[in-house]
Amino acid sequence: MYACVAMINSQTIKHPPTGHRLVLAPMEGVVDSVMRDLLTKIGGYDRCVTEFVRISQTVLPPRVFYRLCPELLSNGRTPTGTPVFVQLLGSNPDLMARNAQVAEGLGAPGIDLNFGCPAKTVNKSHGGAVLLKTPDLLHAVCSEVRDAVAPEVPVTAKIRLGFEDDGQFEAIVNAAVTGGISELTIHAKTRRQGYRPPAHWARLAQIAKESAIPIIANGELWSPGDVVRCGQVSHCEHFMLARGALCRPDLARAVRHTWQGVDTPAMTWTEVFPLLQIYLRSNANAYEPRHACNPLKQWLVYLKHYFPQAGALFAAVKRIKDFDDMDRALETIEPEISKAA
Ligand SMILES: Cc1cc2nc3c(=O)[nH]c(=O)nc-3n(C[C@H](O)[C@H](O)[C@H](O)COP(=O)(O)O)c2cc1C
Repeated sequence: MYACVAMINSQTIKHPPTGHRLVLAPMEGVVDSVMRDLLTKIGGYDRCVTEFVRISQTVLPPRVFYRLCPELLSNGRTPTGTPVFVQLLGSNPDLMARNAQVAEGLGAPGIDLNFGCPAKTVNKSHGGAVLLKTPDLLHAVCSEVRDAVAPEVPVTAKIRLGFEDDGQFEAIVNAAVTGGISELTIHAKTRRQGYRPPAHWARLAQIAKESAIPIIANGELWSPGDVVRCGQVSHCEHFMLARGALCRPDLARAVRHTWQGVDTPAMTWTEVFPLLQIYLRSNANAYEPRHACNPLKQWLVYLKHYFPQAGALFAAVKRIKDFDDMDRALETIEPEISKAA
C-alpha cells in the first residue's frame, strides 16, 4: 500500500499514502496544554496524549484532570481541534476504571493507559512499566477500564517491549489487545533500555502485520527519514513523535510533506523564537513561581539539538529562576544571539 516516492539521503524511498496517523507523545513536564497548542497549530498531528495522571489511592477530583488537560473545557480538543486523550497511570484495575469514568464524564475524547514509564519512584509504587512484568494485571487494567467507559470512547495503551528484556513481548501485547484496547503504542525499547538508542523497530514487525488493531510505533523518530525507515522496518503505519517533536517543532508537518512527496522549507529559528515567548508567558500561572521557567529551559535543551541559537540562549538563561527576569532576558539576549549566528 505505497502511494508516492521521494528522495531521502540519496535513497529512493516509498512512502505510505496519507491517512496514516501521527500522535504527539505524552511528555511529563514539557508537553503541556500550551505545548500541545503550539505544536498542533504548526500542524501534522492527529492526536495528542496528556502527561500521565497518577492514580494511586483515590478517585481524583475533576480539578486534577482539568489541570493536566485544560482542553477538557473545550470538548477535549486543542484550539485547532486535535483530540487530546487523557493518560492514566496506575495498577489497581477498579480505581483506574473509576478514574477513567471521571475523565470520560469531563469530556475526554479517549483514555490512554501508561504501561511504559520507567521512573523508579513510579515503578516502586506499582505503576508504569512495572506492569509489563505481570501481563495478567495489565490485562485486568485494560479490560476494566474498557468496560467502565462508553464503547464509543476509545481506550488505548502505551507499552514497551518488556521490563528487563523482550521475552514476554508477545504476551504483553496479547494481554493489552484481549483487554479490549482499540490502539496500541509501542515504545520499541525495554524498560531497562530506558531512553537510550537504538529503538528496536524491527521487533514490532510481526505484531504490526498480524494485529487486528492499529499499532503505533514510537522511539527515536527524530526526522522524516526516521519515520519512513521505521515504517519500512516495523511495518507500522502510525507513529508517535516525542523528543523529536520538541527538537523540531515542525516535525509532524515535515513528515506529512515527505509522505506527500512535497519539498517544503524547514522552520527557522526566527519562526521558533516567538513560540518560546508564548510558551513562557502562557505558563506563567500554570506552575508555582519557582518552577515557572523550568518548562522553557527544558524545551531549549531539546531545541539546541536542531537550532544552535537555542544552545546559546540556554547557556545565557539557565540560571534565571524568576519569570519576569526570564521574560526580559529573552527580549534582550535573543537579538544578540541571532546577530552572532
Ligand atoms: C521528559 C519525558 C517525559 C515523558 N513523559 C511521559 C508520560 O507522561 N507518559 C508516557 O506514556 N510517556 C512519557 N514519556 C515517554 C515518551 O512519550 C516516549 O515514549 C519516549 O520519549 C520515546 O520516544 P522518543 O524516542 O521519540 O523520544 C516521556 C519521555 C520523556 C523524555
